[in-house]
Amino acid sequence: MSAPIYTVVIAGMGKRGMHHAAAFHADPRFRVVGLCDIVADKLPAAAAKLGNPRTGTDAAKMLADLRPDVFCFCTMPTLRYDFIKLGVEAGVRLIAYEKPMALSSDEARRIMALVRQARVKTVVSHQHRYGAHYATVKQLIDSGAIGRVHTVYGHATGWMMHMMTHMIDYARWYAGNAEAQWVFGQAAGRRKLADLHPSPDYVAGLIQFANGVQGIVQTGACSPDVPEVEAWWRKCRVGAQGTEGFAEVLTGGGWRAVTRNGLLGGSGNMNYDLDMPPYIADMAAWLDDDRKVHCCSGEEAYKGFEILCAIMRSAADRGQVRLPLDDGRNELAELDRCLAAAPLAMTPLPDNAKEYGPAK
Ligand SMILES: NC(=O)c1ccc[n+]([C@@H]2O[C@H](COP(=O)([O-])OP(=O)(O)OC[C@H]3O[C@@H](n4cnc5c(N)ncnc54)[C@H](O)[C@@H]3O)[C@@H](O)[C@H]2O)c1
Repeated sequence: MSAPIYTVVIAGMGKRGMHHAAAFHADPRFRVVGLCDIVADKLPAAAAKLGNPRTGTDAAKMLADLRPDVFCFCTMPTLRYDFIKLGVEAGVRLIAYEKPMALSSDEARRIMALVRQARVKTVVSHQHRYGAHYATVKQLIDSGAIGRVHTVYGHATGWMMHMMTHMIDYARWYAGNAEAQWVFGQAAGRRKLADLHPSPDYVAGLIQFANGVQGIVQTGACSPDVPEVEAWWRKCRVGAQGTEGFAEVLTGGGWRAVTRNGLLGGSGNMNYDLDMPPYIADMAAWLDDDRKVHCCSGEEAYKGFEILCAIMRSAADRGQVRLPLDDGRNELAELDRCLAAAPLAMTPLPDNAKEYGPAK
């Protein structure tokens, strides 16, 4: 019997929508049946590259008409719960969507309640895990080459709602996907709160994992530079320190390690053309077999997002925040109030737009 082909509707045909659509279109296990964007002008060129599926500007109507197996959406972070609900109501089996999975713990918890109740699989785009340089570091850590891991870290110059869920996801991965027990965080600056990826200008957090590993994460204006990497959005360093060395990846600059076998290193750069095909192929594997859970499942993403929300709560409330969270809140609104009341000395950020990265 030949393997089933899964139908896909994709909404949000911007940069990431096109990456996803191209990978679904190229994979023989999927058939792209619909493309949707509120900007109708984007659709003809996209459709021409993707087998000329149906196009439209209304995702609800398209889902109701086509009732696909998979709904993929790649919109700005302000649009998450409502599209998850549309997918669930249309009876899809899997929803693939972009990070960040939500803008608050309240929204993330409502998303998880909805998809768990409906038994809909979800996958969130932390696809750097498929980068060969990211995977090499994971293999080295798991091989024991750096001894017993005690610390993991991840930092990016990009701001929080863009980059922090990536940093937490990969740091957690390098920490053996351990459960987080508590988080401690601090934040500064309100300029990026008005961005489409609303964020404090600078955020830092400590994460205590149940296996004894501690994580250190930072994103935004005061995060360390990654001088080895030119491309601003790829200035991310994620790694692990162990009793016998360390191993780390730079999103735009390969990997390196000091191990019990000496100094190692290799090249590597973020490459959507290489990362997206296996990321998409693993969705078919999970649809085929419930046991083959996607490594970027919504459940994994939720654990990372809880950590991010706990960092924001810690910054707003002070002190450590226990995990798992047992209620939903709007952490960004709470941080906004608390940072507005902070004395200027608490936000010593340079008055220089370049420090905040390109407009996005
Ligand atoms: N995983 C990664 O590596 C990665 C990289 C870049 C961006 N992202 C994330 O991807 C998401 C999208 O970013 P992007 O750069 O592709 O944005 P984009 O602006 O290029 O694309 C978003 C598209 O969504 C469309 N849209 C908005 N509302 C819609 C609606 N109601 N129905 C249908 N279409 C709608 C817009 O018209 C636009 O074409 C963001 O959450 C961002 O953080 C992830």
